[in-house]
Amino acid sequence: MTRIIIIGYMGAGKTTVGKALAKETGLTFYDLDWYIESRMRKKVSQIFAERGEEGFRKIEHNMLHEVAEFEDVIISCGGGTPCFYDNMEYMNGQGKVVYLKASPEVLHKHLKMGKTERPLLKGKTEEELITFITEQLGKRETFYSKAKYSLDVNLMDDYEKIKITVKKLR
Ligand code: S3P
Repeated sequence: MTRIIIIGYMGAGKTTVGKALAKETGLTFYDLDWYIESRMRKKVSQIFAERGEEGFRKIEHNMLHEVAEFEDVIISCGGGTPCFYDNMEYMNGQGKVVYLKASPEVLHKHLKMGKTERPLLKGKTEEELITFITEQLGKRETFYSKAKYSLDVNLMDDYEKIKITVKKLR
């Protein structure tokens, strides 16, 4: 039985990498945000607006416990998932956790290119955004660094290497 759990900051490429790997390995792909949205029949941004971050984190925690019981899966988490409750310890017990590590500059670049609506980044100017990412990433590293495996994705062109490394975990 294989269960790979991908973590990392917003914009690190968790969903992209997870999807590509699932296709190659035959494992089933789950994106925790998408799972939440389909179970709740609401967008993540809507859940934030209605219940605040605290409400979202509780739902995220509960849904993580559903998804991380499935077998032969690759799961990509939300950027904040490892940082609340005992989610990080739980994930380490459930599967092989891989941290996609990227610098604030690279994350900023990816986030600017992406189209996903992210409640925590909404309404920030360019300058505020880079400061926010740098500060929050610094705090979140404490949790992310508890992952057993870590992959530097600063060179996203190095995709092949990333795929090979994660495939070895199977
Ligand atoms: C969040 C990241 C988002 C989503 C929510 C909160 C975070 O997921 O779960 O907006 O706290 O970093 P992605 O990392 O997939 O953008």
